[in-house]
Amino acid sequence: MQNLSKNKTFISTILLSLVLALLLTACSNPSKEQDKEIKIAILNYASDDTFINSVNDKLAESLRKRDAELKKIDKELSLSFDTFSANNSQINQNQQVERLVQQDYDVLIVNIVNRTKSAQVIEMAKKWDTPVIFFNREPVPEDLAIWDQAYYVGTAAGKEGRLQGEMLIEDLEADFAAVDKNSDGVIQYVMLEGETGHQDAILRADASVETVKAAGYELEQLASKHADWLISRAYALTNSWIEAYPEDIEVIFSNNDDMAIGAIKAIEDNPNSYYRENPPYIYGIDATPSGLKAVESGKMRGTVVNDGANIAGAMADLAIYLSTDIELESEYLRNMENNKIRIPSRIVNSENIAAELELSSRVK
Ligand code: GAL
Repeated sequence: MQNLSKNKTFISTILLSLVLALLLTACSNPSKEQDKEIKIAILNYASDDTFINSVNDKLAESLRKRDAELKKIDKELSLSFDTFSANNSQINQNQQVERLVQQDYDVLIVNIVNRTKSAQVIEMAKKWDTPVIFFNREPVPEDLAIWDQAYYVGTAAGKEGRLQGEMLIEDLEADFAAVDKNSDGVIQYVMLEGETGHQDAILRADASVETVKAAGYELEQLASKHADWLISRAYALTNSWIEAYPEDIEVIFSNNDDMAIGAIKAIEDNPNSYYRENPPYIYGIDATPSGLKAVESGKMRGTVVNDGANIAGAMADLAIYLSTDIELESEYLRNMENNKIRIPSRIVNSENIAAELELSSRVK
C-alpha cells in the first residue's frame, strides 16, 4: 500500500493558519478542517440501475457498520453520507461535483456517467482537496493519473467474462446435446451487451466467447446488441430475436443479470415461441438479488458475482483512510495497487446457489 498524505492537517499556530487561509481561500474549504464528522457524498450515474442500487444498499450498510466502529474508538466521531443521482447526464454530475466539493464533504464516491470524462471531476476534486473514489465505471488511466488522491474500486471485467464462458463449458461437458438443441455440433448464441464504451460490456462480451472457443467448442453468433443493462431493452431485443431466429438460439450470453431477466421474461411471455418448451441456456453477470433468484429457480443457468458487498466494504475502508488519521487494518487497502482495488469474482450456479444466498446477506 502506498503512503498517502492525509487531508486533515493540524495547523498549530494562528499566524500560520492565517497566512495559509489567505493563500488557500481559492481552493480549500475552512469548514473541512478538524471536525470529527466524516461526511461522504455518493454520486451515482443513474437511480434506476439494479446493480448500482444494490451496491448502494451494501455501501450504506458498510458505512453504518464503520460508524459504529468509529464511535467505539472515540464517541465524538461520526460518519454520515448523502446520495445523489446524475440522471445519466455528465453535465449534471459535473455540476453536482462542483457544488459538493465546496461543501464540507471529506470524500466523494463517484460512479461516473461517462468513464472517458473523469478528468474534469478529478480536477475539481483536486482544486478543493477532496479525495475521490470512483467505482464500477472505471476512469481511463490518463485521467486517474491526474491526481494521487483519485482512486478506483471495481472488479476485473475480463475475468467476469471468462467465468461466464467457463459456466457454459461446464454445461457443454456435462451434456452437449442438451445445449446443442439443433444437433449441428455448433452452439448458436446471441449476446446482450451492456452499454457502448463501458469497460464491463466490451471485456465481458469478448472474454466469454473467447473462453468457450479456446476450450475447443465451435460457436456461431446470431446477433449481438446493446441493451444498456436494462430489463426493458433486453426484453424488446429478445422478442425481435425470437422472430428472426424462431428455433436457432441455444445460448444467451448477457453482460448483466437484468438483461438476462429481460430475455427470460420475453421467452415466458411469448405464447407461440418454440423457446418456451426449449429454453436457451442463459448466463448473466452481477448476482443481484433478482439474478440470484433466477439462478435459484433454474431460469438462469448461472451468474458471476460482481461483488457489491466487497466493493462497498473496500470503499468504506478507503473513505475512512482518506479522511482520518486512524490506523486501519484493512485487507482491501493492503491489496491496493496504483490507487486501484480489484475485487475478485466467482461463479454462481445451481451447485452453490444456497451458499451464495447466505453470503449475499453479509455486510463487509
Ligand atoms: C456493471 C453491471 C451492470 C450495470 C453497470 C453500470 O458492472 O454489471 O449491471 O450496473 O455496471 O455501470
